[in-house]
Amino acid sequence: MSLPPPDAQALVLSRTLSQRIAQDIAQQGGWIGFDAFMHRVLYEPGLGYYAGPMRKFGAQGDFVTAPELSPLFAQCLAAQVSQWFDQTEPVVVEFGAGSGRLAAGLLNALHEQGTSARSYLIIEVSASLRERQRETIAQLAPDRIGVVQWLDVLPAQIDGVVIGNELLDAMPVRVFEIDSGALQEVGVSMNEDGAFAWATLAADGVLTEAVNEALGDLLDESPNASLNDLLRASARERTDGGAGASGRYRSEIGLQGQGWVETVGRALRRGAMLLIDYGFSAREYYHPQRDQGTLVAHFRHRVHTDVFHLPGLQDVTAHVDFSAIARAGAAAGLDLLGYTSQSRWLINCGLLERLAALTSAALAGDQGAAATIDAARTVGAAQTLLSEAEMGELFKVIAFGRGLADDALGFARGDRRGTL
Ligand SMILES: C[S@@+](CC[C@H](N)C(=O)[O-])C[C@H]1O[C@@H](n2cnc3c(N)ncnc32)[C@H](O)[C@@H]1O
Repeated sequence: MSLPPPDAQALVLSRTLSQRIAQDIAQQGGWIGFDAFMHRVLYEPGLGYYAGPMRKFGAQGDFVTAPELSPLFAQCLAAQVSQWFDQTEPVVVEFGAGSGRLAAGLLNALHEQGTSARSYLIIEVSASLRERQRETIAQLAPDRIGVVQWLDVLPAQIDGVVIGNELLDAMPVRVFEIDSGALQEVGVSMNEDGAFAWATLAADGVLTEAVNEALGDLLDESPNASLNDLLRASARERTDGGAGASGRYRSEIGLQGQGWVETVGRALRRGAMLLIDYGFSAREYYHPQRDQGTLVAHFRHRVHTDVFHLPGLQDVTAHVDFSAIARAGAAAGLDLLGYTSQSRWLINCGLLERLAALTSAALAGDQGAAATIDAARTVGAAQTLLSEAEMGELFKVIAFGRGLADDALGFARGDRRGTL
């Protein structure tokens, strides 16, 4: 795929970051884990993708997230959060607030729905994004910004609702390969041309245990076959002759995301945690045919697999294994309140009724063509959020609770928690 060239200033930043990572690789004996590489390209102070000055979200950035598409997303989330506010404190803790659009929309919608947040706490690792969030909220929710606070550390105890939209996919992952029965960790080294290159090492105990846990169910289904036999057999069935045909299987383990759910889950005293992201259950995630894993890069609205391209200038992300996330929630003593697709969750939270109200109000006014265009845009955004071919099915929603009733609005129909 041909990717658009970056501007000269961006290229300088990217080269500086590449040199720093190369020095790190040399100091570590020629190899670093992919999680270390991903951490640096995303979060290196001043240079990493989320820590640098470039625009990331929206039409001028690299990708568009649900809250950027339409205020309908925040309104649906507000319906769910409102329900939980009846059972806990009216406090929201948002992790990784991006441009601040979801916070602004949620604050406004909660207020309009008669359940204002008393406090809205944001925990954001990127200093440049904190600034952007402050500006967005000041502009879009000026009457509500008084309740917003940015925190540097996780509160010791949380009574309220924790939210994270596309947070877990931005957390570094470890990459593994199973080749001829051997489990190896795939990391990053330098090739003869001085470029980053994949390189493997024998897996350590932590990775081995994590892979066994993540793929355990697949093995349990065929207890007589080793994982490698299972993967080979399935790869042979394929007709496309791709990498899978050799029996080599590569995927990722999101240990950092799981650790995050466990840590934040333990801090949740009474309340809910709702996470929205792209991903699947372990059975789908580690399906033998998905033998190249899920790592991708986003650059100016192109999705591609060259994660070494222009370090710091492109987003690097992995899908989420929601079965592992469910286990992490259970380890923190949380109750699983539901797991479903984004489309099902939005519909349960009233998206279609809100869409009808919004478009008919726009068209009932006397604003002619402008109103028709606005209504068409709103319908188009709803289509992107719901469509199976876009975000509706790939994106999932999972919720945990402590001390809450198991009747969450968003999972009233189509709850798939049994598939995790
Ligand atoms: C893909 S963006 C999503 C932004 C936003 N939630 C949205 O939907 O538009 C990921 C965000 O998570 C932040 N982030 C990543 N790891 C984090 C962590 N451990 N704690 C808080 N924020 C984090 C990033 O800086 C970034 O703002």
